[in-house]
Amino acid sequence: MNKEPSNNTNNQNSNEISITERGAGGENDGISENSNSENDSARVTPWEVEGQIDYDRLVKEFGTQQIGSEIFEQFERIVGEVHPMLRLHYFFSHRDLDFVLRKVESGEKIYLYTGRGPSGMVHMGHLMPWMFTKYLQDKFGSDLLFQLTDDEKFLYSQNRTKDEIKRFTYENILDIIAVGFDPKNTKIIVDTTHIKHLYPIALEIAKRITFSTAKAVFGFSGSTNIGMIGFPPIQAAPCFLPSIIEGKPTPVLIPAAIDQDPYWRMTRDVAEKMGFYKPAQIHSKFLPSLETQGGKMSSSKPETAIFTTDEPEVIDKKVAGSFTGGQATVALQRLYGGNALGCPVFWYLRYFFDDQKESDERFVKCVSGNLLCGECKSDLARDSKSFINNLKKRREKAKDSIEKYMYENEPYQF
Ligand code: TYM
Repeated sequence: MNKEPSNNTNNQNSNEISITERGAGGENDGISENSNSENDSARVTPWEVEGQIDYDRLVKEFGTQQIGSEIFEQFERIVGEVHPMLRLHYFFSHRDLDFVLRKVESGEKIYLYTGRGPSGMVHMGHLMPWMFTKYLQDKFGSDLLFQLTDDEKFLYSQNRTKDEIKRFTYENILDIIAVGFDPKNTKIIVDTTHIKHLYPIALEIAKRITFSTAKAVFGFSGSTNIGMIGFPPIQAAPCFLPSIIEGKPTPVLIPAAIDQDPYWRMTRDVAEKMGFYKPAQIHSKFLPSLETQGGKMSSSKPETAIFTTDEPEVIDKKVAGSFTGGQATVALQRLYGGNALGCPVFWYLRYFFDDQKESDERFVKCVSGNLLCGECKSDLARDSKSFINNLKKRREKAKDSIEKYMYENEPYQF
């Protein structure tokens, strides 16, 4: 079977159960894992995501808003449906999304903005916000700025050379194009290539942010190199570039996982002082690590993730070796059932491949002891191999269309 990520928006049934990860499950949680537990070991920054993440707690700590029925109703009104990534609470939190959706409803032009730090190859977790961004681009007909922060990734790691980052930038551009963004409405910005478009805006931002604020927001310390300390205004700049391009304040919506939120907190602080709208965000959860309970799929830990360039045998091996929520033996699994909520294989299938009905049935079968981990692993390996196989073909084709996507329609070579 050739299965693409589930995009079935007409899948709600009246007997639906609501299954959510730790917290931020919206308003009608049927089953959710321990959403208010204290857990001080979790750490979420733009550069590090560790531990068991409590998404309810992040909403409180970061001061964002949960996505609930009012946002669903706005989407219903505008596009006539609620995308599964919203309905399943994969996108769970926002800032000013209601404001941007009102602008869309009134026919005003908005921009989308998202990005990638090219520190390695792209994995399926990165693709989630990009696929949702493509969906929004298709539905709203919006222009999209896609930033590659090659400067950030060079500065962040002492061991990375500029040549390595350049190669990853090229490889990542192929993945971005393979997602299927509309070349007419999409502009890729590579920081070191297109800096002249960002730098004047970044200077205005930088001048309004003190070192104490940067330390408090990003956790910089005395041992942080000064390049990293100076970097955040460069990631903030595309939030205001649309207003420069359009010649008037223009709303921007940023789809990304919640790890990027510190950048937007800082940017929102200075936006109105600079005469712009505060950039709006829609935050996703993380596709979990395949290797452990807790933590996210990470390109710096290859065993935790399935990459867009992985060979079928590698996918088989990673999925076969994945952590699950299963019991120690088949007999115990049949007796007590599995812990689907703590199982990366379950979440991976739910967010990426199963439609909601299939996933709800998988959940019930797992927790009642009627499904063994081997079956879920085999489904995940099959669906991932088929998805990656198709994506690889689109990556290959993308080599011929890079120029159409670059900010100045120029080639990108490494
Ligand atoms: P980066 O390269 O760390 O991540 C790229 C995008 O993928 C999201 N993400 C994930 N989503 C789901 N599951 C995961 N396991 C997972 N890991 C990462 C990130 O939130 C991000 O949306 N500094 C940024 C690059 C950037 C950017 C932006 C990102 C520049 N401008 C605007 C988002 C929006 C970075 O290093 O992303």
